[in-house]
Amino acid sequence: MTVHPAERTGTEPLDAGRTVGLADAILERQRARESSARTYARSFPIVPARAQGMTIEGADGRRYLDCLSGAGTLALGHNHPVVTEALRRTLGSGAPLHVLDLATPEKDAFTDALFATLPSGFADRARVHFCGPAGTDAVEAAFKLMQTATGRRGLAAFTGAYHGMTAGALAASGGVTTKQPVPGIAADVTRLPYPYSYRCPFGVGGERGARLSSVYTERLLDDPNGGVVPPAAMILEAVQGEGGAVPAPDAWLRDMRRITSERDIPLIVDEVQTGVGRTGAFWAVEHSGIVPDAMVMSKAIGGGLPLAVLVYHEDYDGWLPGAHTGTFRGNTLAMASGTATLRHVVEEGLTDRAAVVGARMTERLNALRGALPAIGDVRGRGLMIGVELVDPEAEPDSCGARPAAPQVAVQVRAACLERGLIVELGGRYDSTVRLLPPLVITDEEAEAVLDRLADAIAAVTAPQGRGVRA
Ligand SMILES: Cc1ncc(COP(=O)(O)O)c(C=O)c1O
Repeated sequence: MTVHPAERTGTEPLDAGRTVGLADAILERQRARESSARTYARSFPIVPARAQGMTIEGADGRRYLDCLSGAGTLALGHNHPVVTEALRRTLGSGAPLHVLDLATPEKDAFTDALFATLPSGFADRARVHFCGPAGTDAVEAAFKLMQTATGRRGLAAFTGAYHGMTAGALAASGGVTTKQPVPGIAADVTRLPYPYSYRCPFGVGGERGARLSSVYTERLLDDPNGGVVPPAAMILEAVQGEGGAVPAPDAWLRDMRRITSERDIPLIVDEVQTGVGRTGAFWAVEHSGIVPDAMVMSKAIGGGLPLAVLVYHEDYDGWLPGAHTGTFRGNTLAMASGTATLRHVVEEGLTDRAAVVGARMTERLNALRGALPAIGDVRGRGLMIGVELVDPEAEPDSCGARPAAPQVAVQVRAACLERGLIVELGGRYDSTVRLLPPLVITDEEAEAVLDRLADAIAAVTAPQGRGVRA
């Protein structure tokens, strides 16, 4: 299916069985039968029927540019030929689809492909543990591994963090609304300030704000009356994803590495969303040159199928057999699609492509700020971009940041959908539009994304000024 990004088919049915009425009926049944915790389905009342590359076609025949990519999962977009071919080959080979954690040629090939991508200084002495197939299980595994290795219990984690929804990962995450209804969830987590320049926890921003975060972290950990018992690990994201595409400065990451090393605190880097080229380095830690003690990986490593691993320095391998087990740790198809994806990203230089296209998109978004004052901040790294929407009439704070505009953000998301563009929100007050296109996005698609986003923001915030271009 070749689809021009701007092409829309209105309400034409896909074929006889896929009609607007059918889509409405499916949506209605979903609303009636699924839990009230359903998420994306609320923001995007569409019924994806087919997808190729960056384009999703709904059951009602409308086409959308998908800038969510399964929350950063689809590095190669939907149904990339190298992925579908790997899946067909594996299905045709008679390989068992489910093998618990037994050795298979597919797992062996995946491990080879994964280890070939690891940062230098990490791969030589790394161990991999295959986890239950979600990022959150790999986060739990990382915590348990380090708790076992250190004999300590607590964790150090950051404001704005997102690590998943199971107990430990949720405790380490920053979002208050998901934790508040779960009594006692956040016990044993020391919350540290993440360097978020626009809404700096110290009210200063920039390099100085990041430096203060380092100083505070170091002094708190050393303060005999600071109330912090040495933690089993520190966990951080090099670029916070759900937190609103907030990149940590490289110097700050190097500070965290030094601070944790000097105090024998294992450093876990959560690369679930940042991995596989998305930030313009294969793994986001590579920008800073740090070597963590453990890396948590999921999303793109499975090429669109569920897969999650924990990779860590062999010195921490003090687990007993079965210490972190689970039924679905040997998904043969995910190993095959994951291997194909990892290799393709490397062979096609898609990491560099993400850096180049991401920089261009960020530049154009920055240029829009004059015409669209509701854009308070544009930030990110590679193809992990955040556009924070604010109230331009309100007084700025000491860093120049204006209050978040959550209602406007919701309207912009809906206006984007009307224009055939899928973008999700995140960050503080859910006011940041997050762009997570596949790494294979074409120049034309990138332009179309920005045109539609700019038009949506203009339509919501300045209806007379529609059609704004950089
Ligand atoms: C950085 C990070 N860690 C962990 C997770 C949890 O992954 P999953 O949703 O597969 O459990 C996510 C999901 O968005 C994430 O972005």
